[in-house]
Amino acid sequence: MTDGTTVTIVLGTRPEIIKLAPVIDACEEREIAYSVVHTGQHYSEELDTVFFDQLELPAPDHNLGVGSGTQSEQTGAMIQEIEAVLLDEQPELVLVQGDTNSVLAGAIAAGKLDCEVGHVEAGLRSFDRTMPEEVNRVLADHAADYRFAPTEQAAGYLREEGIADDAIHVTGNTIVDAVMGYRDLAAAKSDVLDELDLDAGDFCLLTAHRAENVDDRERFSSLLDGVARFASESDLDVVYPVHPRANERLAAFDLTMPDEITPIDSQDFLDFLRLESTATLVLTDSGGVQEETCILGTPCVTLRDNTERPETVDVGANRIVGVDADGIVTGAREALAEQNGWENPFGDGHSAERILNIAGLGSAASVGEVHG
Ligand code: UD1
Ligand code: UDP
Repeated sequence: MTDGTTVTIVLGTRPEIIKLAPVIDACEEREIAYSVVHTGQHYSEELDTVFFDQLELPAPDHNLGVGSGTQSEQTGAMIQEIEAVLLDEQPELVLVQGDTNSVLAGAIAAGKLDCEVGHVEAGLRSFDRTMPEEVNRVLADHAADYRFAPTEQAAGYLREEGIADDAIHVTGNTIVDAVMGYRDLAAAKSDVLDELDLDAGDFCLLTAHRAENVDDRERFSSLLDGVARFASESDLDVVYPVHPRANERLAAFDLTMPDEITPIDSQDFLDFLRLESTATLVLTDSGGVQEETCILGTPCVTLRDNTERPETVDVGANRIVGVDADGIVTGAREALAEQNGWENPFGDGHSAERILNIAGLGSAASVGEVHG
């Protein structure tokens, strides 16, 4: 849709595809002239096309094919390529989502042109600037015109940074739209438990891919050791869909996967949702997985030193344990012993509609902002 484009949606990685799918669906429903620019940050089928196919999204209008590289090689190449598309399309609004290098590139390229920028999932803060994601989300927030904050807490962080109140909108997180839209389908259609020979309520799901963990041999090794020790003590199977970054690091560091952990391929969204919904416990360093487990009612243990999703901890769904092996065992034990039944803090599943309403796009569905 390059003629008369109103909205250009920039995305590049697995979590952005999943969390922007509800926004793309809402654009389709409202017959908004939109285009999708895929930076090509993720390109392997398991991180990319599998989600376009399963979520029935139209193929991107542009694939910039930027691929992997150092932080600045990747981000710089994306900025140049995105700018060229935006100069050609002249959209009124550019939407980016989250905290990856694709988000930073989209926000910077669009922020310097004559269009508005909307940052979906604005205001998250880990307060840890050693993480590339923290740098990306802070800069994207400050380049944006609309900050679509998932929660009041995220909106508060933006206000503390001096952002005007009328540029901050609490919309909930679009991941709730996606989970609500696909949870039942996953339960009906996914055969993943049979395929992996797992029993619902009798296994743990592990994901670990963040640079601060898997690019550091000691941290990665300690993380695997802690999870293996917990598996052994609790007698629970552990399945680990291995992200390509982690796969590469395992080989480069010559790390052996402990027998207690079964590595599997990265999963498609329905199979992954099914695993998350039926796991006894999820251990993860993913941002999106902390949210999804909280929404689905599965206890989560976060293998990081901090989180930009403190709401999950506050409601009792998540605990932050780091990567020390003893800490993982203790944290996982405590998480299992606790009752679940918390409230989902991330909204009602109408975030995508709210975002389009606030941006004045298409006929408004009757949803107000989450808070005033
Ligand atoms: C990126 C995000 C991270 C997010 C993750 C989602 C940044 C800084 N990081 O991390 O916040 O949690 O996406 O999954 O933007 N690779 C492949 N195939 C691919 C893509 C990557 O094999 O399709 C391998 C390459 O060896 C590459 C490595 O993974 O060097 C890392 O990829 P990169 O895009 O730099 O970051 P992610 O770890 O995917
Ligand atoms: N996910 C998936 N298959 C997997 C692992 C994760 O579909 O094997 C989905 C998961 O449901 C969530 C998203 O990927 O929506 C999270 O992405 P990731 O952990 O790669 O990135 P982060 O959220 O940490 O940026």
